[in-house]
Amino acid sequence: MSKPVAIVTGGASGIGLAISTHLISKGYKVAIADLNPKTGQETEISLGSDSLFIQTDVSDYSSQARLFKQVYEWGGNRIDFCHANAGIDDRQSLYEESEKEEVDEEGLVKKLNTKTLSVNLEAVIQGLWLFKYYVRRSPEKKGKFVATSSAAGLYYMTTNPQYTASKYGVIGLVRSAGPVFIKENITVNCICPGFIPTNLCPPEILAVWPKEHITPVSTACKAIDTFLGDDMMTGQTVELSLDQLYFRKMVNWANESQRWIGEESKDIWAKGYAKVPVKEGYKS
Ligand SMILES: NC(=O)c1ccc[n+]([C@@H]2O[C@H](COP(=O)([O-])OP(=O)(O)OC[C@H]3O[C@@H](n4cnc5c(N)ncnc54)[C@H](O)[C@@H]3O)[C@@H](O)[C@H]2O)c1
Repeated sequence: MSKPVAIVTGGASGIGLAISTHLISKGYKVAIADLNPKTGQETEISLGSDSLFIQTDVSDYSSQARLFKQVYEWGGNRIDFCHANAGIDDRQSLYEESEKEEVDEEGLVKKLNTKTLSVNLEAVIQGLWLFKYYVRRSPEKKGKFVATSSAAGLYYMTTNPQYTASKYGVIGLVRSAGPVFIKENITVNCICPGFIPTNLCPPEILAVWPKEHITPVSTACKAIDTFLGDDMMTGQTVELSLDQLYFRKMVNWANESQRWIGEESKDIWAKGYAKVPVKEGYKS
């Protein structure tokens, strides 16, 4: 039988590079999808013939759609695993100093750069959309999707509010979609790393960061192994800190009414949505 096929976005550096290397050692063919052609090509050379670098901008839908098609064909008409991992920090500060704030010719305040949300959240949703399409057309018709959230998605990071919002979004995505996709043998989970020294972090911070607060990248490999080894584990959020995995539950229901809405009103929602016509403008 042909080798299982994986896509790792942001696979040419940091966590993605470690996961790509780990998957190769487990017998996968790995497509490294990264924006950076230099590190991408270097990674392909160092990982050998079971790897393929495909320059991709995950925030551009057609770039990501081309990636999936190319990987499916390269892998012999199969995709088994996707790690939607590419991520960036805030590109413009929400708190921008008043002398830097800009208005256009009309006097309207210029739009905040929200690229972080496109890369860290929207691209993950589109990645899951594409993954589902190709898993349905793969021989085993089963797959595993892991997204990279962050400890910032569980707590908060005042320096990067957009990043924090995007990582909370990833957790909401896996908790909602995970229990649904399991019905067709697709698991959807996420990892929430603590501080792992990578190129994401400015070198000035890496230089002074205390060693006792570093999570080794091997903890991320351990989490991926946990998800790969369990066909039923889905909708899970696992926090990575030091050498430990912490499975995180959602907040407690506030009261019995909220629990009923969350757990027992599903049929009402399903019937309601089945009857609602597509709203004007909804598709645009
Ligand atoms: N390092 C940490 O401490 C830490 C903690 C929590 C979460 N994370 C998350 O882990 C993930 C990986 O980050 P990392 O720390 O390995 O950082 P990194 O900067 O070392 O690697 C990120 C990779 O993503 C690529 N990338 C960026 N934008 C892209 C795009 N639009 N399309 C394709 N590739 C793109 C970069 O070129 C780079 O190779 C990110 O989602 C990050 O938010 C990291």
